[in-house]
Amino acid sequence: MSDPIIVANGLSRRFGDTLAVAELTLEVNRGEVFGFLGHNGAGKTTTVRLLNGVLTPSAGQARVLGLDPMADGPALRRQTGVLTESPSLDERLSARLNLSLYADLYGVPKAEVKARVDELLATFELAERADDRVGEFSKGMKQRLALARTVVHQPALLFLDEPTAALDPVAARQVHEMILHSARAGRTVFMNTHNLVEAQRLCDRVAVMEHGRLVAVGAPHDLARRLVRNLTVEFELTPDDTAAALQALHGAPGIVSANQRNGVIVVSGAEREAVPELISRLVQAGVRIYQVTPQEPTLEDVYFALHSDAEVKP
Ligand SMILES: Nc1ncnc2c1ncn2[C@@H]1O[C@H](COP(=O)(O)OP(=O)(O)O)[C@@H](O)[C@H]1O
Ligand SMILES: [Mg+2]
Repeated sequence: MSDPIIVANGLSRRFGDTLAVAELTLEVNRGEVFGFLGHNGAGKTTTVRLLNGVLTPSAGQARVLGLDPMADGPALRRQTGVLTESPSLDERLSARLNLSLYADLYGVPKAEVKARVDELLATFELAERADDRVGEFSKGMKQRLALARTVVHQPALLFLDEPTAALDPVAARQVHEMILHSARAGRTVFMNTHNLVEAQRLCDRVAVMEHGRLVAVGAPHDLARRLVRNLTVEFELTPDDTAAALQALHGAPGIVSANQRNGVIVVSGAEREAVPELISRLVQAGVRIYQVTPQEPTLEDVYFALHSDAEVKP
């Protein structure tokens, strides 16, 4: 049964001539990690600001945790944690103090602050540097601290705006683990990202936004099945046959490209129906095939299927 924690109905926001969010109708269920995907300017940040009651909609309504974000903003924000695109930490202070001050600000009972801060420092792998000035931290550590700060008041719902955008892959992976940790602790996560790998890894469902409009919503796997008609297929061959295979595939109908990668021919853009024809071309050219593996479509494929007017990059 769905149990929506966020309901948006025709939610819109205009800035001058720009319709940043256009009639967004969407439900996010309690307990899910929901990815809000789109390239720069798609309206992701604006949506989070609308849902969190820091921006007035031009039209439409939203209910978040049963509250109207505009009318009940302060009550709502006591139950949400928000990681903005560039979270500001106090770099002169220690990690511990950054968290304690936030705990005070959010009205965490005085008697509980120390234990809660200690626990967060441990969970977010900052305990060893707890008393060092944040100014000396790496980007990844700062982001982990910013994330710890968003849950200091134990919110039911987290809004994370591009949580790994500025991080290297190792730091990003640590942040992913911490997002999943929050999700396992029962929090609903609404996460903006333009990183498809991240979305695929973390999200139960995703919405794809384009120029303020919702263009697709669903589980990554379902979206891939529904929207991606062209497969990527790998052919494992005798390495000596590679050149003959590429030649045989050259100009085959319905494929976008055929490339060689470590002795494996990777054919992309093949329609399912074209695969037997490709195999038969290879066999006729005398190529010995050991294995044919169609790749599961990914969210990236979904993205490209949706943005097939090629000038748009993910
Ligand atoms: N405060 C603002 N004033 C004017 N235009 C804005 C403002 N905030 C966002 N926009 C515009 O709204 C559109 C969506 O922006 P945004 O929500 O920040 O997208 P995203 O987070 O997906 O990159 C963009 O065209 C952006 O320039
Ligand atoms: Mg943004």
